[in-house]
Amino acid sequence: MELPKIKILDEFDKTLRKVSKEVKFPLSKEDKKLIQDIIDYLTMSQIEEYYEKYNLRPGMGLAFIQLGIPKNIFVIVEEIDDEEFKNYVIINPKIISHSEELIYVGEGEGCLSINRDVEGIVPRYARMTIEYQDISGKKQTIRVREDISVAFQHEIDHLHGILFIDKIDKKDPFKNKDKMREI
Ligand code: NI
Repeated sequence: MELPKIKILDEFDKTLRKVSKEVKFPLSKEDKKLIQDIIDYLTMSQIEEYYEKYNLRPGMGLAFIQLGIPKNIFVIVEEIDDEEFKNYVIINPKIISHSEELIYVGEGEGCLSINRDVEGIVPRYARMTIEYQDISGKKQTIRVREDISVAFQHEIDHLHGILFIDKIDKKDPFKNKDKMREI
């Protein structure tokens, strides 16, 4: 596998703060190619052979805005078994409903645009129902939970110009810890 040539913006790039726009269908050839490149990149970043060879930081999600393109598209690649992956290509997502229950990732969230460790709690809904469009423009509904719910919220935040570090209390990074469940 060849590593796709994509350039991921870092947290200091103001483009990441842009609000992404609704995507019209059909998708352009370029957008389809970019979606495939992102799938390949995220997949390779989670396979030892490739992350060692290319010195990649493992990541499971990327939004178009992280490549400088303000469109409401993100991709999540979930390892469901040893080197077996499930892809989510999510276009124009809307949160339809969510749980009251909040969770947070105990070891902290990561982001391919943030090249440092950041400690602290990022409150996320434990479960959500999302409406979105697939690659062909067809409306779909998906229910997500636990780590995938966190990943969806992290990526939806990117579409609004929000980074996970924005959600950590600066003075007290572990504020309200007892009110949420650690995953
Ligand atoms: Ni991110």
